[in-house]
Amino acid sequence: MPDPLPDLSSLRLAYTRAELRRADLDPDPLRQFQGWLGEALQAGLREPYALSLATADASGRPSVRTVLLRGADERGLTFYTNYESHKGHDLAQNPQAELLFFWADLERQVRAYGPVERVSEEESTAYFHARPRESQIAAHASDPQSAPIANRAALEARLAALQAQYPEGTPVPRPDFWGGYRVRVQEWEFWQGRENRMHDRFRYTWEGEGWRIERLMP
Ligand SMILES: Cc1cc2nc3c(=O)[nH]c(=O)nc-3n(C[C@H](O)[C@H](O)[C@H](O)COP(=O)(O)O)c2cc1C
Repeated sequence: MPDPLPDLSSLRLAYTRAELRRADLDPDPLRQFQGWLGEALQAGLREPYALSLATADASGRPSVRTVLLRGADERGLTFYTNYESHKGHDLAQNPQAELLFFWADLERQVRAYGPVERVSEEESTAYFHARPRESQIAAHASDPQSAPIANRAALEARLAALQAQYPEGTPVPRPDFWGGYRVRVQEWEFWQGRENRMHDRFRYTWEGEGWRIERLMP
């Protein structure tokens, strides 16, 4: 039996590290995000480029999981995965997503919402080959991602068969079912924790020609 949990309703922290003022915001939310992610990296946070990716299927059933951010530029935010996975099926039915970064040590949260598209084949291939060889082979082994598999031994047998198929020195091709998605962000929210729940929140909304910036109730 695990030890009993403490009373969760009594656990709370005071957020006192920083404040976020309207005047501090970059007019461009991408630059605001890049600044915050840069600070998270400099602060030595563990994998601050890991994010929660929320999707939904055609019926509206939501699902969420962690993926790694692999690009953030004026085109959008990019991550890589298996197109046949649960998230891949959701995005085929309903190509929009919300992304969430939570940087606890900085008392910050960022949300980004937008339509999702696949990155180009060339981009996916270039990134696939930039990954370690073991990860390339593992991408082949874990297909279809998210499908049940009998046991660990069956998974390792698949890996061994692929290692024999692609011996050291031979290139591992990018599988068709593996590649990137890009979220073309239309709405961002930056949240800075403050004392007594009086947090600072700012939303940027794309209005076709520029970004509208609004402070939100905490
Ligand atoms: C820190 C961390 C990073 C991850 N990065 C990725 C990633 O970049 N791409 C990916 O497909 N899965 C990644 N995963 C695994 C996913 O969370 C998830 O288990 C997998 O993609 C299957 O999700 P799905 O069944 O919802 O499609 C990561 C998990 C963790 C905890």
